[in-house]
Amino acid sequence: MERLQKFLARSGIASRRKCEELILAGRVMVNGETVTELGTRVQLGDVVWFDGKPVAPERLEYYLLNKPADVICAVSDHRGQKTVVDLVASPVRLFPVGRLDRDTTGIIILTNDGAMAHSLMHPRFEVDKVYKAEVEGEVTEDELDRLRNGVQLEDGLTRPAVVLLMGKRSGGSFVEITLHEGRKRQVRRMFDAIGHPVWKLHRKRYAMLTDVGLAPGGSRPLKEKEVAALRKLAKGEIS
Ligand code: URA
Repeated sequence: MERLQKFLARSGIASRRKCEELILAGRVMVNGETVTELGTRVQLGDVVWFDGKPVAPERLEYYLLNKPADVICAVSDHRGQKTVVDLVASPVRLFPVGRLDRDTTGIIILTNDGAMAHSLMHPRFEVDKVYKAEVEGEVTEDELDRLRNGVQLEDGLTRPAVVLLMGKRSGGSFVEITLHEGRKRQVRRMFDAIGHPVWKLHRKRYAMLTDVGLAPGGSRPLKEKEVAALRKLAKGEIS
């Protein structure tokens, strides 16, 4: 059972809010009757019509993409830039769950499941995200401790993070950082705060999903068990 406006939105008619207006305007029928009640629920087997045409809900699809650099996390772009959605061939309208900066590479989920995406992006359900950063300069253990314990950014103190020094090369350091929150440009701002600007950033893990086997620009549908695990996460059942 689900609310009629949600069913209509999931079927690609319009946003949930707009669907409420369509219901109130008397443009929706359920099992042959015009419905103008917003609380109306529908279930499998109910026949829903909009403007005289039957409505079929879109199949929910989920993909994992290894985003290359120079691609933006948006549904469509008006300045002709390539978006993550352009990289995944699907008959449904996909959108990214959260965002990676244009220059950041790595994994991101694309789906048409608005409810799950909304929950996964909710601050209360922030999942582990693991990034590989190549940064300017030789980072000291004291500086890494600052990242671990929390650095002051303009939108507040960062939460404890797991931070490992993976290596150094002339003039730069490789650091792996695991965050449990997801603020805008957070990794770059954290390294700026300790005086080591990020040269390159790659997200290698999001919850239980990793970039293993995905070349840059490559994508794959999520497995059923991965979708089930994400759904549990989104409901806050596991952390
Ligand atoms: N943190 C950043 O700074 N950029 C990203 O793209 C993701 C996390």
